[in-house]
Amino acid sequence: MYAIQKIHFIWLARDHRGLLNALKHTLVKQIFEICFQQAKFSYLHMKYLFFSWLTVFVGSWIVYVEYSSYTELCRGHDCKNSICDKYSKGVIDGSACSSLCKKDTLYLGKCFTAKPNSQVYSGSWGDLEGVIKCQMEEAPHYDLGSEMEPRKEAVAFNKPTKGTSVEKFREMILNHLKAKVGDQANLADLATQVLSITDANKDSHISLPEARSTWALLQLNEFLLALVLQDREHTPKLLGFCGDLYVMEKVPYSPLYGISLPWIIEVWIPAGLRRSMDQWFTPSWPHKAKISIGLLELVEDVFHGTFGSFLMCDVSATSFGYNDRHDLKVTDARYIVPEAIFQENIRQKRCDVDEDCLYGADCLTSCDLTKHRCTPEVTRPNLAKGCEALKDYILRGAPSDVKEELEKQLYACIALKGSAEQMEIEHSLILNNLKTLLWKKISHTKDS
Ligand SMILES: Nc1ncnc2c1ncn2[C@@H]1O[C@H](COP(=O)(O)OP(=O)(O)O)[C@@H](O)[C@H]1O
Ligand SMILES: [Mg+2]
Repeated sequence: MYAIQKIHFIWLARDHRGLLNALKHTLVKQIFEICFQQAKFSYLHMKYLFFSWLTVFVGSWIVYVEYSSYTELCRGHDCKNSICDKYSKGVIDGSACSSLCKKDTLYLGKCFTAKPNSQVYSGSWGDLEGVIKCQMEEAPHYDLGSEMEPRKEAVAFNKPTKGTSVEKFREMILNHLKAKVGDQANLADLATQVLSITDANKDSHISLPEARSTWALLQLNEFLLALVLQDREHTPKLLGFCGDLYVMEKVPYSPLYGISLPWIIEVWIPAGLRRSMDQWFTPSWPHKAKISIGLLELVEDVFHGTFGSFLMCDVSATSFGYNDRHDLKVTDARYIVPEAIFQENIRQKRCDVDEDCLYGADCLTSCDLTKHRCTPEVTRPNLAKGCEALKDYILRGAPSDVKEELEKQLYACIALKGSAEQMEIEHSLILNNLKTLLWKKISHTKDS
């Protein structure tokens, strides 16, 4: 019994020592682990803290930059106030004036502006959805742009002068149109239409403030183009105006394609990926084909159309949009200018290199180095620029049986040089080929 007890004791003691050892071991291990984990934790903690700080810093910086550029760019309410001030003084009048200034039924909504001298807002007018464009007075720039759209005269609202008869006003309109688009056959009809728009309250009487508003509007390229192309379906309808502020039909999908990112993110994305990202969220291929045909038709309409030729000097996805029926619409026509006016102005421009002879984003002529003056003919036709804007858009997702031919035609189109007049046959051949190719592929779908 004693022996058994002793053995048991030894066992216990051994056990105990082992236990103690084991305990010591785990304790040390745990202390180590805690220390290590704490080190790891505080390292992680630091990293976490640093990155959250960085995010907050960068984030607020982006917000600040975006906000300050927003307040700098979006001055629609100043624009409205200046228009309403002139309306209340009886200087201008128009179909949108009382809704905008008195009844407050025409609201300025989301700001779309990307340039300070024009204010573009989404707007609601009763139950109409529209886009409001307001011209901002700016320190006069004596560049080509302001020559082609003489803003100072437009904002003064001093024409026509008091005592001008309707007949005299019609003559003024006619001469203005003649100077802008050339001596076309149907200008008299166009002048009549301008007069009917002028009589905004439809009382069969044209008041001086109404006439001043239309005269100001006539100075704007976008208004002129909408007027000239009003029977075609590629320009949004004019809903109303007040002075040189106007409301046009809202194009539900705009821009044509492309996603906008803050520039801070933009700089990190490689160009190739950026280009393919722009093609995300676009409609199905047959719909894209229909929209593209719309752009080709527009190019056709403005080249040798009923009212002369126009040059498209800012052909990019941001200038176009489309509606629910996939009809293409021009959303920014400020750089679609009558060719005659363009030539007259660019001829007078001094230059040392070809790059000096640029108007808008992409209307380039060459520099005549003997006279240091720009030559009048553009180096690329509207069509080539249109094809370039459409290339990625229409090739992506194209059915395999047309893809190769489409690509071939598009590259031939992009390579077109000189003005459309200089190579009229090749120009219309490519235009027709492209249109037919796309039509053939979609003509059997129901909503084409
Ligand atoms: N009628 C319209 N319907 C829908 N969106 C429009 C319309 N007009 C302009 N926009 C949008 O507003 C943006 C800015 O208008 P735009 O006339 O191009 O002014 P800016 O070139 O000065 O920024 C366009 O890129 C387009 O997305
Ligand atoms: Mg624009």
